[in-house]
Amino acid sequence: MSKPARKILVSSALPYANGRIHMGHLVEYIQSDIWVRFQKLRGHDCIYVCAADAHGTPIMIKARQEGIPPEDLVTRVAAEQEQDLREFGVDFDNFHTTHSPENEQLVQRMYKALRDADHVYTKTIEQAYDEREGMFLPDRFVRGTCPRCKSEDQYGDACEVCGATYTPRDLVNPTSVLSGSTPVWRESEHYFFRLSAFGDRLRRWMKVAGLHQNITSKLEEWFGAGLQDWDISRDAPYFGFRIPGTEDKYFYVWLDAPVGYLASFLHLCNSREDLDFEEYWREGSEAEVYHFIGKDIVYFHTLFWPAVLEGSGFRKPTSVFAHGFLTINGKKMSKARGTFINARTYLDFLQPSYLRYYYASKLSPAMDDIDLSLEDFAAKVNSDLVGKLVNIPSRCAGFISKRFDGRLSAELDDPALFEEFADASTAIAELYEQREFGKAIRSIMALAEQANRYIDDKKPWQMAKDDALADGVQAVCTQGLNLFRTLMIYLSPVLPTVAADAERLFGEQGWTWDQATMPLLGTGINPYEALLTRVESTKVEEMVEASRESTQQAAATPAPETISIDDFVKVDLRIARIVAAEGVEGADKLLRLTLDLGEEKRQVFAGIKAAYRPEDLVGRLVVAVANLAPRKMRFGVSEGMVLAAGPGGSEIFLLSADSGAVPGMRVK
Ligand code: MSP
Ligand code: ZN
Repeated sequence: MSKPARKILVSSALPYANGRIHMGHLVEYIQSDIWVRFQKLRGHDCIYVCAADAHGTPIMIKARQEGIPPEDLVTRVAAEQEQDLREFGVDFDNFHTTHSPENEQLVQRMYKALRDADHVYTKTIEQAYDEREGMFLPDRFVRGTCPRCKSEDQYGDACEVCGATYTPRDLVNPTSVLSGSTPVWRESEHYFFRLSAFGDRLRRWMKVAGLHQNITSKLEEWFGAGLQDWDISRDAPYFGFRIPGTEDKYFYVWLDAPVGYLASFLHLCNSREDLDFEEYWREGSEAEVYHFIGKDIVYFHTLFWPAVLEGSGFRKPTSVFAHGFLTINGKKMSKARGTFINARTYLDFLQPSYLRYYYASKLSPAMDDIDLSLEDFAAKVNSDLVGKLVNIPSRCAGFISKRFDGRLSAELDDPALFEEFADASTAIAELYEQREFGKAIRSIMALAEQANRYIDDKKPWQMAKDDALADGVQAVCTQGLNLFRTLMIYLSPVLPTVAADAERLFGEQGWTWDQATMPLLGTGINPYEALLTRVESTKVEEMVEASRESTQQAAATPAPETISIDDFVKVDLRIARIVAAEGVEGADKLLRLTLDLGEEKRQVFAGIKAAYRPEDLVGRLVVAVANLAPRKMRFGVSEGMVLAAGPGGSEIFLLSADSGAVPGMRVK
C-alpha cells in the first residue's frame, strides 16, 4: 500500500439500554460495520466504538417496574445487545456503557470547559410535575387531548393524528402517564447551553463536513428558524450524572450520550498502548472521526454535538452519516403483524449473512427509508448469493480436488477476463468509500454473472469427458475459482463469515483488498464445503410467527398448575389500610387505591369498581401482596395487589382484616 494508513474513528449511535436490538437498529449497525471492515481491509487504522446509552427517565422507570436498580438493568441489557450484535458480525473494537467512570470524567471535563467559557447559564422554567410520583415529567410522559384536532390520548410534544407540535401545557386534560394524575406546573432552575451563539461556527463546520445534501438542507431549515439555547439539566429523581456543584440536578441524557463515543474510545485507549486519546480528539487532530446515525437523531449530532465539542475545546466530527428508517413489507414494524422482529428472533431462524447482504444491497448515502420485503429478501438472497456467487466455486472446486490433486494450475485460462475483474477494484472501492453499498453490490453481481457465463461457455463438465480437452479443465476451473476469490474479497466487508470460509478453501488467511487483483496460482486448495444454503421461506414464516407470539405471550403467561411451599412463602402478604380510593377516568372496572403499608404508601389499581363504592373503602383494612413487581398500566404504575375472592363483576369480595391488625403487619 503506497499511501500512508489513515487514522479513522467510527461510531454507531448508542442503543438505549432498555430493550433488545431489533431489525431497525440493525440497518445502522450493519451499515457501519461494513464501512469499518472495508477501511480495515484497505489497510487503514480504523477503530469502531459503541456503547449502551444508559441514562434518562425511561430507563429509570423501566428499572423501577422490574424492581431492580437501573445499574443492574443497564448492565444486563448492554450485555444482551452486545451479544446480539456480535452474532450479526458487528465487530466493535469496544462496546462500553455511558454509565461509566470514563464517561463521567469526560462529561465533567467538557462541562467545566463550557462553564468557564460562559457557554452555560441558568434560568427558571415551568414544567409538568407529577405530585403523586414526586417528579417532573418529560414531555412524552404527559398525555392528553390534542389542542388542535382534539384527538385523545396524544403525547405532550406532538399529535400523532394531525402532526401538530406543542408543549404539554397546551394539551387539553393532561394526565401523567406514570400515575394517571393531573400534572401541576412547577418551577425549577435549569442549566442551558448557549447554542444560539454557535450559528456561524456551525455553518462553517457544515461547509467542510461533507454532509449529505439531505442533512445540509435540514440544517439550513434549522438555521433559518433560529437556534434555540438547549436545556441540558434535569431534576432529581433522574438516572444520570449529577451536575457538579448541585444537589439534585442531573445532566440530560442527550448531553452525556454522545460523550459516550469518546468514553468508549477512552476506555479502549486505556487498554491499548498504541492508541492515544488526545491525538484523536484534540482540536486540529488529523485523525478522521465519523458518526453513523439514523435520521431521527440528526439534530443532536449536527447542531448540539459539534457545538458542545467546539465550545469545550475538542475537535468536531469529520462528518456525520445518516440513514433512513426501516420498514418491513412496506409498513412500520408492527407487533400485531409479526414484523417487530428482534435480532435474537431472527438469529433463531436465519443466518446473519442473508440480512447483511440484503441491507447492503439497499443502502446508499441518502436518508431514504429502506424496505425489507420478506418475499424479496428470500428471492434476492437465493438468486444472488446461492444462484450466482456460490454457484461459481461449487461448479469448479470439485474438478480441482478430484482430478488435479487439489492444485490450481500455474496459469489462468483467460488472463484478460481476470484483468477486467481486477480493474473493477478502484471503482468498487470508491463506491464502498462513499457508502454506495447498493451500487457496489450491483457491480459485484454483474461480475458474478460474467463469471457464470464464462463457466457456462467452457462447460468443464463436458471438457472432462473429452480426452483431448480434459487437461484444460484445470486452467478453466482455476480461472473460475480466481474470479470467485476476487469477488469474495470485494464482498468480504458485507459477508465476513462467508469470506472466512472462502479463505479456508484457498488455504489463505487475512485477505487484504489488494489481493483481489492478484490471482492465486499453482497452489493447493482445500476440499470444497457448501458456503451458503438457500433461504427457506418456511423459516421466514416461522420467524414472523414467533415475533407475533412473543408479544402475545407477554400478555398471558399461563400459570403453573401447582406451586411449592417455597414458592408460596415468597409471597409477602401484608395488612394494608386503604387511605384513598377513586375511580379511574377511561377505565370502567378499575379503582385506584392508595394503601398505607405502615412504612410506605402504595398505589394499586384493582378491578373492583362494580363491587365497591370508593367512599365505602376508605379506612378498611385489607390484605395486600407487597412484593409484587410494579406494573405499568395505561393509567399509571400499579405497585402491588389487594386480595379478593368471588366470581367477578359485582360479586367480588375484598379479604378483610379485623380491627386488631396494624398496617404493615405480615400475614401468616
Ligand atoms: N440512544 C439514542 C442514540 C444516542 S447516540 C449518542 C438512540 N437510541 S435508539 O436505540 O433509539 O436507536 C439507535 C440507533 O438505531 C439510532 O441511530 C436510530 O436512528 C436507529 N434506529 C432505531 N430504529 C430504527 C429503525 N426502525 N430503522 C432504522 N434505524 C433505526 O436513538
Ligand atoms: Zn392533533
